Formats: sequence, C-alpha cells, structure tokens
Amino acid sequence: MYRSHTNGELRLRHVEKEVTLSGWVQKVRDKGFMLWIDLRDRYGITQLILDEERTDKAIFEQAKTIGREFVIQVTGTVIERQSKNNNIPTGEIEVLVTKLTVLNTAKTPPFTIEDDTDGGEELRMQYRYLDIRRNPVKESLIFRHKVAQEVRSYLSNQDFIEVETPYLIKSTPEGARDFVVPSRMNEGQFYALPQSPQTFKQLLMVGGMDKYFQIVKCFRDEDLRADRQPEFTQIDCEMAFVEQEDILKTFEGLTRYLLQKINNVEVAEFPRMTYDEAMQTYGNDKPDIRFGMKFGELNTVARHKEFNVFNKAELVVGIAVPGGNSYTRKEIDKLIDWVKRPQVGALGMVYSRCNDDGSYKSSVDKFYDQEDLAKWAEVTGAKPGDLVCVLSGDTNKVRAQLSALRMELAERLGLRKPNEFAPLWVVDFPLLEWDEDTARFHAMHHPFTSPKPEDMPLLDTDPAKVRANAYDLVLNGNEIGGGSIRIHDKTTQALMFDHLGFTPEEAKAQFGFLMNAFEYGAPPHGGIAFGLDRLVAILGGQETIRDFIAFPKNNAGRDVMIDAPAPIDYDQLTELNLKLNLKS
Ligand code: AMO
Repeated sequence: MYRSHTNGELRLRHVEKEVTLSGWVQKVRDKGFMLWIDLRDRYGITQLILDEERTDKAIFEQAKTIGREFVIQVTGTVIERQSKNNNIPTGEIEVLVTKLTVLNTAKTPPFTIEDDTDGGEELRMQYRYLDIRRNPVKESLIFRHKVAQEVRSYLSNQDFIEVETPYLIKSTPEGARDFVVPSRMNEGQFYALPQSPQTFKQLLMVGGMDKYFQIVKCFRDEDLRADRQPEFTQIDCEMAFVEQEDILKTFEGLTRYLLQKINNVEVAEFPRMTYDEAMQTYGNDKPDIRFGMKFGELNTVARHKEFNVFNKAELVVGIAVPGGNSYTRKEIDKLIDWVKRPQVGALGMVYSRCNDDGSYKSSVDKFYDQEDLAKWAEVTGAKPGDLVCVLSGDTNKVRAQLSALRMELAERLGLRKPNEFAPLWVVDFPLLEWDEDTARFHAMHHPFTSPKPEDMPLLDTDPAKVRANAYDLVLNGNEIGGGSIRIHDKTTQALMFDHLGFTPEEAKAQFGFLMNAFEYGAPPHGGIAFGLDRLVAILGGQETIRDFIAFPKNNAGRDVMIDAPAPIDYDQLTELNLKLNLKS
C-alpha cells in the first residue's frame, strides 16, 4: 500500500494516527537538528517533520539527501503543529516520520513548481508534465473535467446520445485549412481530419438519432491566437424536428445550467441581437455587453463642415469613454498612437472632451462649434467628464478599429470583470460573405446552413443581403458557440453549392454522400457547437485557452515538449507514396 491518506486529507482529528503518505517533495527546510519536508500530491500538501531526537538516525540522515521533486513514501504519526499554518487545510498538523522510502529521485526542475513560477511560457510547455504539478494548471484541468462532466450530465438528462464520429474523413469545410493524413493503402490519396463533425451529425439525423452530442476533437489549420488552437474540443450537438427557437432554448438551458453549477451565477433570459445590430452598435459580431460604450454614428452630425477627413469617410463613428476627460493630453496622444498601430490600423483619432461645466473642447475646434460637439455627445451618450473618441473611414474597417479601441479601453478601465457573465445570442447572420482574395462568395457559417426562406429570392438578385438561420452564442465578448438550421432537401443544397461556385460535378465529388442521404428522408434539423476550451476558459475567468488544455501547441502550432511536427524518415515516406509525389 503506497498510501493510507492523500496529502490534502489530514486534520486535527487524525492526531495520533499512524499514516502512510506518498508524493513529491515540494520543499525541504533543514535546520540541522530538525528537518521539514512539504509533501505534495494532487490533493494538497502535508508537512513532514524529522528531528534528531525523535527520528531514527539513519532515516534522519537519509532525509537530508532528499531533493526537490523526489518521489517519496513515508510512514509516521500525525501530531499537532506548534506553529499552525492557516493558509493550507492541513496546516494544523504534521507527520512525525518513522519510515522513509525514496521511490524515485528527480533532477532539479528547470523552473520552480510554485503557483508563481519563474519559468517562462516556452520552458513550461517544454516540461508541461512539471507545469501540470503546479496548482494553477492542475486546477484548470480539474475545472475542465468538471465542466465536461456537467455538460454530459445535462445533455444526457435531456435525452441526447453521445455518438463518436470518425477522425479519418474527407474535408468538412468550416473556413479553415484541413490537416491531411496520407493513406498507405490507397496510393496518392489522403484523409482529412475533421474541422468539425458537421456532415456526420447531419447524417446521424437522417439516421434517426434525433438528439446527438459529442465532446469531440476538431482540427483546423489556421493562424493561432489566444483563443485558437489547431486541435481543440467542441461540444457538438444536433437535433431533428427543430426550429431555431428550439435550439436557442435548449442550449441557453445548457449554458444557464453550467453558469449555475460551475459559477453559482443565475442569469436572466439571454438577450438577442441581430448581426446587423451587433455590427452597428459594437462594430463586432461578438460584442462584450458587460459594459456600454456603444457606438454612436455621427455621419449626419459631423459631415456638414469643412472637415474633409469626415466628409470623405463612409462612416464617422464615436464612443464615449466614461471619465475619459481626466486623461491628460499626453495620455490621449498615446491612445491615438495605439489606434494607429498596424494591428489596429486607424489613420488617426478625433476627440472631444466633455467638461464638467457642460462645455466641450475638441481636437477639431477649428471646424466644429459647441453646438456640433453637443450633438456628438448626445449621439454617443457622453456625459460631463467623458471623452468622445471618433474614428472615420470605410465602414467595415472603422467598425473593427473602434471595436478594438472599445475593448482596449474597457480593459484599462477594469470594465471586463471576469466574474460577471453576460451571455448574448447573435442571430440573423448573413448567409454569404464576399471574399476579396478569391473574388467570390463563401458560406459565412458553412454550406449546409439554411437561408431564411423569406430571403431566398434575394439569392439571385442581392446575395449579400440573404440572411441565414444561423446564430452564435457570445459570452463576455467571446464566441463560445455557433450553429444553424440546416438545409434538408437536395434541391436547396444543390442551389447553395451552385451559389458557392461549386460545379455540380465538384459538389457531387465532395458532398455526394450528403446529397444522396437527403434523398432518403432527411428530417428538418439543426444544431450548434460550443468551443469547450473557450467555454471552460471563460467560466474560469480567463480568455487564454492554452491554460485549460493539458498539452497545448504554441503559436507556431508546435508541441515543444514532444517536438512535433517533425520530419519522417525516408522509408515511411516511401511507404506512403509521398516521396514520389513530392518529386513529380
Ligand atoms: P464553428 O466553426 O463556429 O461551428 O465552431 C464552433 C465553436 O468552436 C470554437 N472554435 C475554436 N476553439 C478553439 N480553437 C479553434 N481553432 C476554434 N475554432 C472554433 C468556437 C466556435 O464558436 N459545425 C459548426 C457548428 C454547427 O453548425 O453546429 C462549427 O464547427 O467557440
């Protein structure tokens, strides 16, 4: 028996008990005649004590050779501590060691295994197994487990069935590039790893499964950010015989359940906003609505003077920064530099100070009088003491820029409170999106998404105006889920592929299986997928998903611990017929 108790378990009531513990050595404090060891495992830390008087000499000497992260087993008696440590649950006791076994030695770790470690990101990733011993990482993984457990429990109770779908498949378009896997047995042919189980879950509906879910790995070869990994996990769901409203209700239910179970937070009915409204009011399709600073469009109140910058712009738009009039000239200049950074890309920023006496002082006083500036304040909702920040330019660009500024200011002003939760449904997404690079329309969600029936006639006349039965679930400014009602008839699906620029032959080659299935009684269906990593991170009060993934990849898509991706040897390449292909 390696242990009778864990290292988080012992309390005063165990005093005088003989116990056996195992774990890693967190710390050794050697006072010469007396020695303390902090013994750690997943459950906590227990202090061990050995001294010249009470401990067998050989054991005492052996203890002095023990280093950090050694794996040891001890037997001893629980005693009450003289100086108690109220910071840890086992802080009232210690174990007087009578037996000691070194189960394994350890090299000195390359960074300290403490809550605040001295190890940088890359080093911690390289030795992730050591990083996982640290409380913050360990707790994040346990937290993730708890969320996944609750998801399974809730959906199972709602009659959803978890079904596994294959990983070696054909491309499922979700807007990213595929990771491909060469087939040894089928020369020159490749599987694609799923960007999502989208087509399979639709086929499960044709198969009559009715309510499906899966906590599933998805793979996307795309540029990485704090909220993106090349392999990530979805809570993927699909339902048959449903309309959009049924889906929103069901998954609002799931999200509310999680907030309550995991965070002990009750939230009211989730607000809904159309895509157009989100773009107009927040410049963003995933607005953080924990705070205001809504956009005020100033075209009509700012394009009537001689200020050409505004007159030439497609959109003039501003936000009121609460308390922003306290910024010094230097601070505002810094803010202007911030919006001019290439990552944001604004050409400049106009501002108007709202003084406490109701007067205004702007950076464009030469062109605008007090009456004009009062209108700007009115449109942006600025109060005395605020600062109105105004950007102008092409609508899409300027919205993105002002949205970036809004989020940055909110961060600086402490308005993005991690323990406050503001969910939001964004609905009525456009069906299609114009892609400048390829000069054609792409499906904004995916090609299986149903257009709103009333917008169908626009497909031929004004495709960009067609709205989809598609929705996103946004939580604290992050897209945590997205889905749609699907097309379930062959004719509409064929029409859709046509609009997306597929020839009938291409559509058949890539999605013939789905079109065929639709000829055998496909029920009306729809679904959603949550990004589990994102959901967990946000419920955990953070936005970087890496911390909630046991073995994440770095920004270059590398696993620096196992050193992947890596070249494969010649024989393997030949076996996969890849060498031939590379040469030809
Ligand atoms: P979508 O592409 O919107 O929809 O993906 C669903 C959710 O998955 C998360 N997500 C990611 N998380 C981490 N890293 C990534 N690279 C990444 N990409 C996406 C997001 C997103 O909201 N098949 C459809 C769903 C459906 O229509 O039912 C789909 O995959 O949180």
